[in-house]
Amino acid sequence: MKFNGSLLIKLLIIQYLSILCVAQDFDFFYFVQQWPGSYCDTKQSCCYPTTGKPATNFGIHGLWPNYNNGSYPSNCDSSNSFNQSEVSDLISSMQKDWPSLACPSGNGVTFWTHEWEKHGTCSESALDQHGYFDVALGFKKQANLLQALTGAGIKPDGESYSLSDIKDAIRQAIGFTPWIECNVDKSRNSQLYQVYLCVDSSGSNLIECPVFPKGRNCGPEIEFPAF
Ligand SMILES: *[C@@H]1O[C@H](CO)[C@@H](O)[C@H](O)[C@H]1NC(C)=O
Ligand SMILES: *[C@@H]1O[C@H](CO)[C@@H](O)[C@H](O)[C@H]1NC(C)=O
Repeated sequence: MKFNGSLLIKLLIIQYLSILCVAQDFDFFYFVQQWPGSYCDTKQSCCYPTTGKPATNFGIHGLWPNYNNGSYPSNCDSSNSFNQSEVSDLISSMQKDWPSLACPSGNGVTFWTHEWEKHGTCSESALDQHGYFDVALGFKKQANLLQALTGAGIKPDGESYSLSDIKDAIRQAIGFTPWIECNVDKSRNSQLYQVYLCVDSSGSNLIECPVFPKGRNCGPEIEFPAF
């Protein structure tokens, strides 16, 4: 009895500690989408993937584990490299919704490898490789930014729009407050580059962001370039 009792307590302690460890892996994800028109409309420009010009739509940049204190883990498991055969059923969706615009042109594998190895390996406690890419593709469908914006009259036509109107349109259509990152075109005009939303640490639901990235790099009026 005595032996069993203390063993049970030890097991409970070990279990409790392991739950604590898992819980501290990361606190939430940023789900980041990018506007291809702004990626390309810069001094360094862009390269379309070998599969052709991507659709006129936001594309996934990544699903990034983050801590509530604003910092983030990266490159957490070098033994778990990107393996295309684990996501073979998702490749055509990834080509469409997660295209790479980096130069030189590629088929996306370099981009997905980078995202998995830098960010995805830090969420292994919640998602395996297939789960990681599958979940991100699902949030892309749920958080249809272009529809949210065009529904509010905010179109990719090279015109300027108010940053607060852009945020309001997304909040109203999707239900959560986004964080907007801008970049600059060749004439140094600020433009709508990336939209951050947040996802809970199990990868199940969009949530309000516990913390937004530091800094503010958009002016009050920003361009929404064509693509
Ligand atoms: C943020 O929190 C994580 C996890 O608790 C910790 O490992 C990291 O050192 C913290 N970073 C800062 C800058 O406080
Ligand atoms: C890649 O994944 C496939 C399917 O799960 C598996 O059979 C193969 O061993 C993996 N390759 C590597 C290098 O891990």
